[in-house]
This record gives sequence, C-alpha cells and structure tokens, in this order.
Amino acid sequence: MQSNAVITAIGTYVPERILTNSDLEKLVDTNDEWIVQRTGIKERHIASDEQFTSDLCFAAVQNMIDRYEVSVADVDYIIVATSTPDSVFPSVASQVQAHFGIPSTGSTDIQAACAGFAAAIQLANGLLLSGVHRKILVIGAETLSKITDYTDRTTCILFGDGAGAFLMETSEGIGDITAAYSKTDGTRGHLLYRSSLASAISGHPIQTNGLIVQNGREVYRWAVSHVAEGVQQLLENSGLLPEQIDWFIPHSANMRIIESLCERTGFAMEQTLSSIQLYGNTSAASIPLAIDEAVRAGRVSPGQLLLLYGFGGGLTQAGVILRWSLPANRQ
Ligand code: UT7
Repeated sequence: MQSNAVITAIGTYVPERILTNSDLEKLVDTNDEWIVQRTGIKERHIASDEQFTSDLCFAAVQNMIDRYEVSVADVDYIIVATSTPDSVFPSVASQVQAHFGIPSTGSTDIQAACAGFAAAIQLANGLLLSGVHRKILVIGAETLSKITDYTDRTTCILFGDGAGAFLMETSEGIGDITAAYSKTDGTRGHLLYRSSLASAISGHPIQTNGLIVQNGREVYRWAVSHVAEGVQQLLENSGLLPEQIDWFIPHSANMRIIESLCERTGFAMEQTLSSIQLYGNTSAASIPLAIDEAVRAGRVSPGQLLLLYGFGGGLTQAGVILRWSLPANRQ
C-alpha cells in the first residue's frame, strides 16, 4: 500500500472527574465484581456539564503542541471522528479551527463510531497521498457520558469520555502507513445505535432522547467472530504475521472481547495495548488513548509496527498497520 504520511505528534486528554464501579453501584443494580469480570473496566473519566467534545479536542491538541513543540498554524485539514459532536453543525473540526485560529484549513467530522479513529487515519493518508493536503490533524474524541442511559445497567457501566490526536504530515520518503482494511455490515446496524436517529432501524416510533441502545450479547458475538476475520484480512493484506507486529491495539470495547480476538488471530495478550481498565469504552478515542499511555511509558518506541483496529456501531470495522516513529515527547 502507498503512503507518504508520517505521524509527527500525538496528544491526549481525559476529563478530571472519575466515575468508579462503586459510583455506578449507587445508580443501578450492579457491582464492581460483575463489571470487572465481564468487561475489565474499573473506572472511566466523565466530562463536566460544561465540557463538550470540542473542549476535549482542544485539550488533546494542546497536549500534543506542548509535548512535541509542533505548530498547528499551517495545518491544512482537520478530521474529527466522533459520535458525540457538540452539534451536527458547526462540526467539532470547525471549532478546533476557530479555537486555534488556524488561518487556512479544511475541516470535517466523520462518523464511524468506534472504528472512527482508524477510518480517519485512512482518510488522512489518502488526502496526503493525493497531494491535496500536507498537514492534517486527526482527532478521535467522545463525550459518551452525555448520551449514556444511566438507568440501563447493560450499557452505563461501559462508556467513558476522552480524546486523542495525531498530527499527520507529508514526507519526502516512504510513509508510516503500511496497510489498511475496512468493512461494514449495515444489516446489523440495529444492534447498536443512538436512539434519536434510530426510528427506521429500531422499528420504533421516533425517539428523541438520543441515548445509546445496544444489544450487548449480539454485538459481542459479532465482535469475536467477524472482527477477528477482519483483523486476519488486514494481516493478509499486509503480508505480515501477528508475531511480526509489535503492538496490537484493538478498540477497547471489553477486555473479554480483546482476549478472544487475541486467541482467534494469534496475537499474545502481552502484545496488546488497551485503555479499557481506566477509561472504559471511549469509542473513537480508545485507540489513541491506549497508544499514548504506552508511548509515555516507553513501551511503544520508534521503529515498531502497530496494528490499530476499530469496530462498533454501524456495524463498522476499520484497521491500519503503521510504523511508529515518535518518541514520548521532543522536549
Ligand atoms: O464499542 C462498540 C461495541 N460494543 C461492544 O463491543 C460491547 C459488546 N458487548 C459486551 O461487551 C457485553 O455483552 C456486555 C458487557 C454489554 C454484557 O456482558 P455479557 O457477559 O454479554 O452479559 P449478558 O448480556 O449475557 O448478561 C448476563 C447477565 C444477565 O442476567 P441473566 O439474564 O443471566 O439473569 C444480565 O441481566 O448479567 C446481567 N447484567 C448485569 N449484572 C450486573 C447485565 N448487565 C449487568 C450489570 N451488572 N451491569
């Protein structure tokens, strides 16, 4: 696969407020033991009432600027992957433009649910390769707490808020992205949806509360079978074996799904990065949060090969293999 795109900076942010499993015990009939055993989640970070997805994006990009001493003044395109934009329009990406006063940039939000960040990397790679753009901010960000039904114990224990950003730029040499794959099964869209837009797929009259509705068991089944096949297809496209990949970073949906994906695809758990334990399922933000935690800890280092694989609402899948070239920071 062709690529001239290099990742030149990473930044992340999670809101300060923490929602623990014992906090959830006070809201619904659940307990810490069930949540940890069935999902691997211990706590999640939750935005304040005044914090929106755009605020999380600003903080993640600022974190990137501070750590890597990069400028966003000459960014010429912004992509925000999110299922929780502050509003449908203006886009979150256009608010990022305004916040940083970027003088000349295109912008768009994309919606591919938990596959959003990997899908955004694929799009940015194509835009850079085409020569239309040279410096792109790619952000995955969510405030899922704002669309979580805290009376539904099957979903409210899962979701958290966060944001992660990559800066991707054109290089003269070979780029970092070495393989990509994506797949959608819209016939199963009714298994996981945001209710305000779901009148047709749910078969119910229009609902206006805009909350996450999930058939967890069915999505789980789909994830461990079809997503595993997708990961194998991406590996086949790349001509690589699992042991040639340094880090497997599947979307942090559920630790049991990650374990099962590893079993079915031949990755070892020790090769796997996730953000599930401390952040929960943060949808489009889960992959950059997992990578950045490992970058800061010195586990992910320059020269290593990473396989990123997002999956979720749609039902969508998107994955990329990339060669990491960044230190923890440039300071
Ligand atoms: O990110 C996008 C993609 N999303 C996913 O990948 C999520 C996929 N699904 C899952 O992660 C899991 O299906 C869940 C975590 C949502 C649920 O776990 P599960 O092991 O599939 O549980 P289940 O739905 O089979 O329910 C088992 C039992 C049920 O009780 P009965 O009917 O056996 O008496 C549930 O009512 O667990 C009960 N239960 C709970 N108990 C305590 C469901 N939620 C809870 C809870 N606390 N929070």
